[in-house]
Amino acid sequence: MKTRTLFLLFYLCLITFSCTYTSEKDLVELNDTSEPITYLNQIKPIFDSNCIACHSSPAINGAGVSLTTYSSVKSAIENTNLVDRINWQPGQGGFMPLGGTRLPQNLIDLIIEWQSEGFIE
Ligand code: HEC
Repeated sequence: MKTRTLFLLFYLCLITFSCTYTSEKDLVELNDTSEPITYLNQIKPIFDSNCIACHSSPAINGAGVSLTTYSSVKSAIENTNLVDRINWQPGQGGFMPLGGTRLPQNLIDLIIEWQSEGFIE
């Protein structure tokens, strides 16, 4: 049901876009939205709202790593299974955020994209 609703929304967007994206000005604006993902603008807020209750500095509640700064988040992605853990389903051992709900898929994708673009600060 949820998937079907999302598809419907997607198609509505497609229809809307195909009718409205005509002028050159609109196309320039479309280009502007493909700015690089940065730690400060998009990534830090995700970790601040979902992780630092335990992954503070120093980490509490037995959470090994601190996730409060650019270098600590980058290092955790490079050296731990952070990306796997947020991709798992709640209830799976090691799922993060521990005891919480799964991050929205678009935020998980954003973190993965940030990684593949080389961790822009
Ligand atoms: C309620 C507390 C809590 C929250 C919130 C939380 N964690 Fe954790 N986290 C833990 C604990 C406890 C551990 C250690 C046990 C384990 O490894 O599963 C841990 C371990 C980890 C590890 C493994 C570290 C290592 O040394 O290998 C990663 C990566 C991680 N968490 C990422 C996250 C991310 C990303 C978020 C936010 C999306 C998050 N956690 C939110 C408690 C938490």
